[in-house]
Amino acid sequence: MQQQGTSAVFDPFEEGYVESPYAQYARLRDGDPVHRSALLHGWVVTRFADVSKLLRDPSISSDIHNATPNPLTKMELARLAERERASRTIVLMDDPDHARVRRLMSEPFRPREIERLRAQVVERIERALDQLREERGTGTVELDLIADFAYPLPVEIFSEMLGVPDEDHARFRYLSQQVARTVDPVMTEAERIECFAALDEMYDYLVIQAAEKRVEPADDLMSALVNAADDDGIPFTDEELIAQLVTLYLAGHEPVASIIGTGTLALLRAPDQLAKLKADPSLVRNAVHELLRYDGPNHFMRRITTQPTMVGDVELPAGEVIYASPASANRDPARWGETADQVVVDRADATQHLQFGAGVHACLGSHLARLQADIAFEAILARLDDLQLAGEPQWGARLFIRSLDSLPVTCTIRERAS
Ligand code: HEM
Repeated sequence: MQQQGTSAVFDPFEEGYVESPYAQYARLRDGDPVHRSALLHGWVVTRFADVSKLLRDPSISSDIHNATPNPLTKMELARLAERERASRTIVLMDDPDHARVRRLMSEPFRPREIERLRAQVVERIERALDQLREERGTGTVELDLIADFAYPLPVEIFSEMLGVPDEDHARFRYLSQQVARTVDPVMTEAERIECFAALDEMYDYLVIQAAEKRVEPADDLMSALVNAADDDGIPFTDEELIAQLVTLYLAGHEPVASIIGTGTLALLRAPDQLAKLKADPSLVRNAVHELLRYDGPNHFMRRITTQPTMVGDVELPAGEVIYASPASANRDPARWGETADQVVVDRADATQHLQFGAGVHACLGSHLARLQADIAFEAILARLDDLQLAGEPQWGARLFIRSLDSLPVTCTIRERAS
């Protein structure tokens, strides 16, 4: 695509964008922070102050039906209609519906509840490394940190948390991978059929599981959700419940895998920070926030104006589509100072990043995400010795969720500490 008149254009086809979009974001923040994108039929918002304000503004909607129709919104509405069974997701709801559904879901995601999963998550991650050591050997080995480690973990962990029996995990991994593709705008007819078949299978499976847990509750997330009720004692309908479960698989899987991959790459490219972390693993919690700030997976959150709204210096009428970029906001020197483009594992205010969003839709799974990421990085530091890049990392080309398709590394896998 040609740049027109200004050096600040949102152009995901620009050379190098996939490897690193941050230089383009910097130009947008400086030159056109509330940028009209012909490609997205909407506004790309890149400064920290504007993104943070938008996400907290109660007049701003997440419901695509509020947008003045354009080719992209029409396409999305058609897709949602096609996957109607799972389309009533919390992510696209506004209050009061959103608040009701969120209240019903939130209990099992509170920090105390998530902390109870720690031993289970540690065991999964240690076991994954034990298995790799057994398969690949005790000398220097080459791994794809994404396929071999980061990618399978979140689905396994979430399936276990949900109460899906172990023997069904592999099937679920396949199904979630297929269902994740239903949100891609472009696919062939054969792919489309395969994806929607997967969605149906997942849906039917979860309906049966929910019915079983209703009769015989266990100590798992599915039992908690089927038995949750609002202040008037009203539970989820089956359809609402399954739509949220599918959302949890989609929302939770890719970003967790992504931060393990991009975070490891960022550390490999900042050896002083990796050394600091190795010397003091108590920094891991803060470092995970910092890695999310530095190169987190969420690049855009879509919102719609419902009334005339000032965004930065631009007044937008009702019905406009906004793409607010937490990834750009997280590199804004106006918020983060001169070190905005560097990884600083002990950065004092790293927790203030916007990777988990903000306002009423702020990530419901942030504690679970951080538990997994903290434990994964602790395990990488403790058990992958002499970790080094062994080739060019391959980036996925998706616009909204940035992630690595592969991260070739060499290392020696240590035995589990007893
Ligand atoms: C590093 C990992 C993760 C990142 C960066 C992340 C990021 C986000 C962001 C930015 C939002 C807000 C979307 C918006 O405002 O439109 C969100 C919402 C959400 N996330 Fe996460 N997420 C992660 C992991 C998870 C996990 C593990 C789960 C649960 C299994 C989860 C469940 C959700 C749900 C249910 C919502 C919708 C909340 C609502 O609309 O009220 N996320 N996430």
